[in-house]
Amino acid sequence: MNQSDIELQINNLRNQLHQHNHNYYVLNTPVISDIEFDGLMQQLIDLELSNPQFNDPNSPTQRVGSDINKEFKQVKHVYPMLSLGNTYNEGEIADFYTRVSKNIESPFEIVCELKYDGTAIGLTYENGELVRAVTRGDGEMGDDVTANVKTIKSIPLKLKGNYPTSFEIRGEIFLPHKGFEKLNNDREEAGDTPFANPRNAAAGSLKMQNSALVAKRPLDCFLYYLLGSELPEITHYDNLNLARTWGFKIPEHIKICQTINEVYDFINHWNEARHSLPFDIDGIVLKVNNLEQQRRLGFTAKSPRWAISYKFKAEQGYTQLLSVSYQVGRTGAITPVANLDAVQLAGTTVRRASLHNSDIINNLNLHHNDMVYVEKGGEIIPKIVGVDETARQANATKIQFPTTCPECATDLIRIDGEVAHYCPNTNHCPPQVKGRIEHYIARKGMNIDGLGSETIDTLYQTGMVKDVADLYQLHPMQLISLERLGDKSANNILAGIEASKHIPFARVIFALGIRYVGETVAKKLTQAFPTIDKLMGASIEELMEVDEIGDRIAMSVKAFFEDNENLALIDRLRKAGLQMQVIEDKTITKTNKLNAQTFVVSGTFASFSRDELKSIIENNGGKNVSGVSAKTNYLVAGEKTGPSKLASAEKLGVKIISEQEFIGLIE
Ligand code: IVH
Repeated sequence: MNQSDIELQINNLRNQLHQHNHNYYVLNTPVISDIEFDGLMQQLIDLELSNPQFNDPNSPTQRVGSDINKEFKQVKHVYPMLSLGNTYNEGEIADFYTRVSKNIESPFEIVCELKYDGTAIGLTYENGELVRAVTRGDGEMGDDVTANVKTIKSIPLKLKGNYPTSFEIRGEIFLPHKGFEKLNNDREEAGDTPFANPRNAAAGSLKMQNSALVAKRPLDCFLYYLLGSELPEITHYDNLNLARTWGFKIPEHIKICQTINEVYDFINHWNEARHSLPFDIDGIVLKVNNLEQQRRLGFTAKSPRWAISYKFKAEQGYTQLLSVSYQVGRTGAITPVANLDAVQLAGTTVRRASLHNSDIINNLNLHHNDMVYVEKGGEIIPKIVGVDETARQANATKIQFPTTCPECATDLIRIDGEVAHYCPNTNHCPPQVKGRIEHYIARKGMNIDGLGSETIDTLYQTGMVKDVADLYQLHPMQLISLERLGDKSANNILAGIEASKHIPFARVIFALGIRYVGETVAKKLTQAFPTIDKLMGASIEELMEVDEIGDRIAMSVKAFFEDNENLALIDRLRKAGLQMQVIEDKTITKTNKLNAQTFVVSGTFASFSRDELKSIIENNGGKNVSGVSAKTNYLVAGEKTGPSKLASAEKLGVKIISEQEFIGLIE
């Protein structure tokens, strides 16, 4: 190869790697596997090493990656936080074995551990107390996230037993599958974007500014590496076992191997068994057990010579692309979805794969009817990771992202700095309108039970409900006339609609579905602007003065309240009797309307928590009792009221009233 060919090849590799980094770190949607990425990186490293004349300080090889966030205090690691070299097959593990044996020339043991797929943390303990928790950062400096880490229950704040005076222990913070699913469900209900995978969720949680919110995330932590100048034991394995007695969560799945075949067995076992673990792992870590042997092997600039990781292959499927459909979300974002010829992957049948956005389709150079490779990586929805261009049909045409909305034919737009295309026809594009109604009635919004997405669809199709204000005009007969809906469900829906009039202002603002206004932002906004008129009149600058509200949210709120159709909608909601200001409502207003009558509150309610209801009772002169007796005046029965309470009330002739009827008593 001549000089200009080499330069061309180097530049080509750099461009590709920059793009893949962007896909992975920015778009969160890698289009090649880790193995392929590492392969390209290795090619570039080799070329740069033998051709130093083409060095570039901004080459992807110079980027170690950093998770530094300027909001946290920066701390220098006492021992640099290195990463591990990766291997992908038995041959590369054998190479590691050979290197180790050549270097230490004596028998050695290898400890095999699981490679947890979370975010690395270094914990420093002094005199048995946790003094600092630092993220990896760039390996030299990391973020001091002690306050957040202290919220993780499995991390001991004080140690027990006979621990060294000063040491560091490193491990991985992660979210188990169950916690991840719950977190994402909550986020979707609150109108926030769900996390792509548990790893991102764990890393994102650790970087939150408010540790009280971190405490609500079910994070966990395994510890796998003890560091210090005077460690109690002479092997890694014994040190970890001892650290377990000090209170650390040391993984159970760890094995000392005397031979390379035992290592292969461990890998092969976990390659299958990993699917039944309650958390994600992405490989196996091999460590030389003896610390003196570790010291002799030492480190390269990036990683220890005494340890290596083996990365599992993501299971891949090979199948044909049948078509691409484009879904329009509540916010108008267009998501392309690939429809595939059914293929078995990691125990499930895959028929669809997310394509995320038009950049991904272009980077894949996806054509109609292409044969594609699908992978189930850390993400829940499988993704297309590559295209078999050799199998492409001769006359196949490229997949073109639509220029108009597939639902309402409006020209699509792209917002600066965002990868998604949007349909701007917010108020009249059917899936956006229906999506907003669904969001409005959801549990964390107006909590109107009984209205599923099918009923909303019918109400919308028949023209009965074209926006959320129409809900308040619904007549019982209209609902009953709908197919599949009996009297009982219709009444239930109407009761929910009625009860929504008591839902606090902050939830009304959240339920409106203003872009970027999730539950927390809605609360902050209504605290700062306690009436709808104040909120509607707030300028961008005034909005931005509110804690945690930046220009993106402020502009979205302003734009929402500048839209005439939205103003008309709010006017109708106001007339329907919704809460359009913060009121210290009946929980605070003291009356004697309930005149010393006794109440038992049971079940769950649409507009209040049980405790809220009880304080309303007290503040209006009533008395709460826990059990139904002959002296009880009322049983306020919500959903899922205890059957024994209902039975006793019926037997003793205690009046059973609904939430609505209760509200009637105090109004
Ligand atoms: S030991 C000097 N053990 O993998 C080596 N790391 O690519 C210290 N990881 O940054 C790391 N499970 O975040 C070690 N059992 C394990 C691990 C593990 C996951 C992560 C860790 C590290 C990365 C290395």
